[in-house]
Amino acid sequence: MDSKNQTVLKDFILMGLSNNPRVQLFLFIFFFLVYSTTLTGNVFLIILTRIIRELHSPMYMFICNLSLLDISIPSVTVPKMLVCLLSERCHISYNGCFTQLYFYHLSGCAECFLLSIMGYDRYVAICHPLRYPQIMSKKACISLASSCWITGVLYSFVHTILTVRLSFCHSREVNHFFCDMPPLLKLSCTDTSLNEIVILFLGGLVAGASFLLTVISYIYIISTILKIRSAHGRKKAFSTCAAHLTVVSIFYATIIIMYLRPQSSHSLEHDKMLSVFHNVITPMLNPFIYSLRNKDVKDSIQKLFRKKMIGQNK
Ligand SMILES: *[C@@H]1O[C@H](CO)[C@@H](O)[C@H](O)[C@H]1NC(C)=O
Repeated sequence: MDSKNQTVLKDFILMGLSNNPRVQLFLFIFFFLVYSTTLTGNVFLIILTRIIRELHSPMYMFICNLSLLDISIPSVTVPKMLVCLLSERCHISYNGCFTQLYFYHLSGCAECFLLSIMGYDRYVAICHPLRYPQIMSKKACISLASSCWITGVLYSFVHTILTVRLSFCHSREVNHFFCDMPPLLKLSCTDTSLNEIVILFLGGLVAGASFLLTVISYIYIISTILKIRSAHGRKKAFSTCAAHLTVVSIFYATIIIMYLRPQSSHSLEHDKMLSVFHNVITPMLNPFIYSLRNKDVKDSIQKLFRKKMIGQNK
């Protein structure tokens, strides 16, 4: 019995988004629908890029990786949140809390770099179309994609190790809907200045480097597109990067609003809302942006259904 009591003492309590039962019910339905749509959309896009031969280009392999990340990011936070919205008090075990922290930052960092690599892919496709197959060889793509995942693993490892060493002695109520670093640091009774420096430095490095890479790619892309003589050619070149540009803009806009606001306007409630947008809504939007605005994907879907109908008529 003693050991059971001790584990309960080590648990954290997630305060969630609201403690009003009506709001909780509404949020439950809302997040359930959003999460189901996210899973369906991204799984559909992964399957589509796997089975359609026309979609076996590097760009779609990267989109496939992005879909995998868009499944994993909300999967770290949303299922637990759904359970919590239906229960009165939301306990999360010590290990559960740090598992969330680890996988959340792993996927976040990998997504950051993946988006800039996708920008680089568009840069090569538009600015060096003849050398594209050579530069984006299968081997190069695999090393580019795996470098994203490896950076994510290392980045998250550093943050998790630094957060695990903290002790929590006063309250264990995490004012968030999942275990993230800022609310955990607030609870700690250890000196957290090292954590804060590392968050600022490493987080800034990852976000800054990938943002810079993306911006540089787009400066080259746009200047190349502007040099194209025919309006039709210009439009065609632009359409191949429009979806990526949309996804990247949403991604960095939320990050910039989240972190580059004046300190005085920071409130935990605002942060939670932005966090919901970043972690729950964006992963749902990405597959739609990529499939609805993309002619290749639309054509493939049509072809798939046509094939099926012909198959049935036989
Ligand atoms: C990720 O991208 C790499 C390189 O293009 C590809 O080989 C791999 O199959 C992709 N993985 C997934 C799960 O989409």
